[in-house]
Amino acid sequence: MTNLKGKVAYITGGSKGIGFGIAQSLLHEGMKVAITSRSATAATSAAEKLGNKNILALESNVQSLSSEINAIQKTESAFGRLDVVIANAGVGHFGPIDNLTEAAWKETIDTNLTGVFNTVKASVEVLKKSQGYLITIASLAGTNFFENGAAYNASKFGLVGFTQAVMLDLRKYNIKVTTIMPGSVSSSFNSHVAGTNDTWKIQPEDLGQMVVDLLKINPRTLPSKIEVRPSVVPAKR
Ligand SMILES: NC(=O)c1ccc[n+]([C@@H]2O[C@H](COP(=O)([O-])OP(=O)(O)OC[C@H]3O[C@@H](n4cnc5c(N)ncnc54)[C@H](OP(=O)(O)O)[C@@H]3O)[C@@H](O)[C@H]2O)c1
Repeated sequence: MTNLKGKVAYITGGSKGIGFGIAQSLLHEGMKVAITSRSATAATSAAEKLGNKNILALESNVQSLSSEINAIQKTESAFGRLDVVIANAGVGHFGPIDNLTEAAWKETIDTNLTGVFNTVKASVEVLKKSQGYLITIASLAGTNFFENGAAYNASKFGLVGFTQAVMLDLRKYNIKVTTIMPGSVSSSFNSHVAGTNDTWKIQPEDLGQMVVDLLKINPRTLPSKIEVRPSVVPAKR
């Protein structure tokens, strides 16, 4: 996919943070981009901020397969094709197992793991047609476990395993699959308000650049699992 101009991407959770940053980078390359949010208002307001005629704002909750099927159909009918799917939407609930509620556990797994399954199921036949690219946004929490991380670690360890198996399933259709595993990123994750203390972190546009580089890499090569971290960690946090 050396020339991205006119190619079409679908990004779950593009209303803010990493998904928004990836959308910005892909639009800059001349791609047409659909972004989703659980809220139509948030999706529309993000699309206005992106200020580009090639953006489509959609309401879809990744926890629902039918909602994802509907959003993928809308993307294909608006832009005529679909080449790139970025399964990015995610939530974080952190706490020790004795305090972790069933609701927090379910929301984490249903969004970060089953949500990606839903996005992939909804898009796999369209990606076969375009011989496209699927990228999941996992986390370093998909390989490093930590205290208070039971739900989040479970969702991201699961997502890394899921994506690697899917990569092998889809390679024979010339669909490329990569999981990106970021460390700390400056975003609104877990209701964080990004500010001047976050400049040491990976910025969403850095991951946008990484996605562009992946899409443009020589088709004979597939970086299937990428760990990415801030190059410097401040002494005091
Ligand atoms: N920030 C980090 O340090 C970091 C590090 C590693 C990995 N990640 C991963 O990166 C991904 C993006 O997170 P972020 O840091 O950009 O957080 P963010 O700023 O909170 O953005 C999360 C995005 O996901 C969407 N979302 C959440 N639940 C959804 C659902 N059920 N259906 C559809 N969209 C949903 C949100 O949209 P609405 O709220 O508008 O619905 C929002 O657009 C997540 O998978 C996260 O686990 C983040």
